[in-house]
Amino acid sequence: MIKLALVGSGNLAHHLYESILNLEEIQLVGVLGRNPETLASFDADLTTTDPKTLPAADLTIIAVSDDAIEAVSKKLQEKHGLLAHTSGAQTLNAIKGKRKAVCYPLQTFSKTRTVVFESIPFCLEAECEEDYELLERFCGLLTTRVVRMNSKDRKYLHLAAVYVNNFVNQLYQTAHEILEDRELPFDLLHPLILETAKKVMDNRPTEVQTGPAKRGDQGIIDAHLSIQSEANKELYTLLTQAIQNSQNT
Ligand SMILES: NC(=O)c1ccc[n+]([C@@H]2O[C@H](COP(=O)([O-])OP(=O)(O)OC[C@H]3O[C@@H](n4cnc5c(N)ncnc54)[C@H](OP(=O)(O)O)[C@@H]3O)[C@@H](O)[C@H]2O)c1
Repeated sequence: MIKLALVGSGNLAHHLYESILNLEEIQLVGVLGRNPETLASFDADLTTTDPKTLPAADLTIIAVSDDAIEAVSKKLQEKHGLLAHTSGAQTLNAIKGKRKAVCYPLQTFSKTRTVVFESIPFCLEAECEEDYELLERFCGLLTTRVVRMNSKDRKYLHLAAVYVNNFVNQLYQTAHEILEDRELPFDLLHPLILETAKKVMDNRPTEVQTGPAKRGDQGIIDAHLSIQSEANKELYTLLTQAIQNSQNT
């Protein structure tokens, strides 16, 4: 049995909480947050806003905003056991405490979405083997994919994740606005979005690229540029150039 404490009441804390409650091997001893409103969605018997009253634990998962990890970890004590943050971008040393670790789940989490942890890679790091094994035991209850990764590699993984998640999502937003202006439904793009994602699961992205930039079809590129806002023209030109550069490497 692992005694576990959770810190944070945001997107990830919410999903971890929901999953942990179903695990017989985990005893959730407390949830620490600073916001009574968001804490209200957790069991009232477990929540506290005072770090001093957070019960002792073997492992404390700190799922707070990246820039708050350091300050929050300083408020925790030795009785809170191994302190593990969940950030892809922050190093192990963001934790101020005797025993520090990282468990970064590589997925996008929103409170409004259902999450199945089972296939989500968890990237783990700890200072000593004993702590790593504790973290691995916990994460192994949530997922089938645990990966050992140091802070430097995790930073690059997080960078890559920003490209495939946040940047791609922003491009969906651009497409959404273009269609909305013409009163066309976004769901016409759903099969294309799915097939594009599926294709890169077993192919190198450049090998499955299609479209006017790849073909060097300047007539179509010019036609597209002529019907866009100045901001979108800039984005389109940048991405067209990036596709063409990738094809030449
Ligand atoms: N969401 C994701 O997709 C995702 C994926 C992988 C890893 N992560 C990592 O998980 C961590 C949490 O992310 P999230 O998406 O759950 O964030 P979030 O939804 O924005 O929640 C952040 C939590 O941190 C708390 N917080 C912020 N500043 C604080 C401070 N100074 N002192 C105490 N608490 C503070 C917030 O409290 P208030 O409610 O009072 O603001 C909230 O409970 C981050 O390190 C993030 O990089 C997130």
